[in-house]
Amino acid sequence: MRRTIGKTMAVCAALMATTSMAQAEDVEVLHWWTSGGEAAALQVLKKDLADQNIGWVDMPVAGGGGEAAMTTLRARVTAGDAPTAVQMLGFDILDWADQKALANLDDVAKQEGWDAVVPKALQKFSKHGGHWVSAPVNVHSTNWVWANKAILDELGIKQPANWDEFVAAMQAVKKSGRTALAHGGQAWQDATMFDGVVLSVGGVDFYRKAFVDLDPATLGSEKMNEAFERMATLRSFVDDNFSGRDWNLASAMVINGDAAFQIMGDWAKGEFLKAEKVPGKDFLCFRVPGSEGTVSFNSDQFAMFSVSKDSAKAAQGAMAKAIMSPTFQSAFNVVKGSVPARTDVPNDAFDACGKQGMADLAAASKSGTLVGSIAHGHANRAAVKNAIYDVVTAHFNGEYDSKAAVEELVNAVEAAQ
Ligand code: GAL
Repeated sequence: MRRTIGKTMAVCAALMATTSMAQAEDVEVLHWWTSGGEAAALQVLKKDLADQNIGWVDMPVAGGGGEAAMTTLRARVTAGDAPTAVQMLGFDILDWADQKALANLDDVAKQEGWDAVVPKALQKFSKHGGHWVSAPVNVHSTNWVWANKAILDELGIKQPANWDEFVAAMQAVKKSGRTALAHGGQAWQDATMFDGVVLSVGGVDFYRKAFVDLDPATLGSEKMNEAFERMATLRSFVDDNFSGRDWNLASAMVINGDAAFQIMGDWAKGEFLKAEKVPGKDFLCFRVPGSEGTVSFNSDQFAMFSVSKDSAKAAQGAMAKAIMSPTFQSAFNVVKGSVPARTDVPNDAFDACGKQGMADLAAASKSGTLVGSIAHGHANRAAVKNAIYDVVTAHFNGEYDSKAAVEELVNAVEAAQ
């Protein structure tokens, strides 16, 4: 009898310990990483945290670019039930910090020396009023093309070195009866292509003047007309079923040999890797022709919402510390397709595209040709970003010709400020 009571008490104590530990260490994470490649990368993060006894409560909200996730987030915060950690991009982080909704991560940042290793371009979004409010997990960039190598080889197409060669390559693919450009007609995907197209037309100075400074003359310029003309050219190479298609299904078209090219951020590489495709052998990665030497970046960060319980604060700190560790940054980004958010991570574990991504980022950062992605909230606050989305998408779907799109762009950006 005494032995049974003793045993029961021991089991109860163990259970209580596990429960209280789980409660103390759980983080609820809101994110939009639901594609195959994204889920594989997320698994690296979940495992890393599990190994440190940090529990994970999953809150996925599907939808590339994170618009749907941000809508869910607003509803949760309005209901007084903010998740502990939230995947977030650029200016959205600063908006929540303005509203004093985010926790202060200065202690862990100081302990871990983040100031010295996180690129300044990211710190602009991770810090608010001089205080760390989020932990950057990666750096993606959007001005990439992903190509099916077998199709190019079969048709004798070389990797295009400039925009005209790119157009000629797409013409050759179209003529062969295949889809030249795999694309999903969703506003954020149209805008993602626009990032690279703007850089290819006018370089970083034009990009910055138009989409960072929001200079009306540049927004309304002849060069902008040219950017929209290039978007119209791209539109002529997508298949009939592009409307509404998810980005990862467009990647699958290239992976499966149903299409030759996709213009998409390097999260697309996560899909190729998940399908066991090898860069250089099965697929090619190269910058949107004409945008070489420039990088339009976006960084996924985990913003921590203010919590009052010490145990929850501790879990947030532990998660932030785990995210920023150099070994985790390597392991995660190798799978995700992105590159590390710190400058001191070796490139050994990365494939050829990852190595190029790291080198491009370092070079662009040095030469001043690194710009925030328009499409992924690193050039402007959400109101302006959405105004740009509307015009780019309406034009891509034939509602405006390029001249009308340029006029609408000037008006929409002005109205959104
Ligand atoms: C981006 C995000 C990437 C990627 C992509 C598609 O906004 O930064 O991590 O997941 O959306 O979902």
